[in-house]
Amino acid sequence: MSEELVPVFIMGKRYDVPPSLTIMKAMEYAGYQLIRGVGCRGGFCGACGTVYRLRDDDTLYFCLACQTVVQPHMYLVQIPFFPAQRAEYDLSKLVPRPEQLFSLYPELLRCLGCGTCTKACPQDLDVKGYMAAAMRGDIARVADMSFDCIMCGLCAARCPVGEAQYNIAILCRRLYGRYLAPRSQHLEDRLAEIKAGKFDKPLEELKSLGVEELKERYKARDIEPR
Ligand code: FES
Repeated sequence: MSEELVPVFIMGKRYDVPPSLTIMKAMEYAGYQLIRGVGCRGGFCGACGTVYRLRDDDTLYFCLACQTVVQPHMYLVQIPFFPAQRAEYDLSKLVPRPEQLFSLYPELLRCLGCGTCTKACPQDLDVKGYMAAAMRGDIARVADMSFDCIMCGLCAARCPVGEAQYNIAILCRRLYGRYLAPRSQHLEDRLAEIKAGKFDKPLEELKSLGVEELKERYKARDIEPR
């Protein structure tokens, strides 16, 4: 019933939508067919970065459309993904040192520490903090602090000096994963077993099963063998 609906404004046009919907569902309820600006629908892919304002409030808010419930008098604009500075590199030829960051992203040292990126992050990451770590060349710290980044790009969209925070952060996570993280012996052992064909036969057997049998086996599986 219309009195239960709340008004939202999508690209400037008013729609009345159920108040329990996320922004993404409200847009679809309003008749938009989302082809861009949508991906996983679960808060992981970063495709649905959205900017909004509320009536009588001059704050610019940022969120993920798939994770945020509508509010009355929300004025919504979806931000199509646009490219930020992204260095080309072959990870196997890089070295995990500060000068590597500065040579691939020299603009890194222009960071003003204004914190606009942190305010824009829908994941509530301390983007300003990890950029400070990047300026110190602390690759492991950047990798740790940016671990939950979903690459939506809203930080870069708001940066007054054109930093590409999320691309710098993924470079650090790659360098950390490839060169700095402690090696996992059990993973090395398992890879050797796979290469030696230890699991070929059971895999072939699984591939020959029907759906119902697979479901039964899935339910009965031993998650943490004792
Ligand atoms: S659609 Fe993937 S984060 Fe929203």
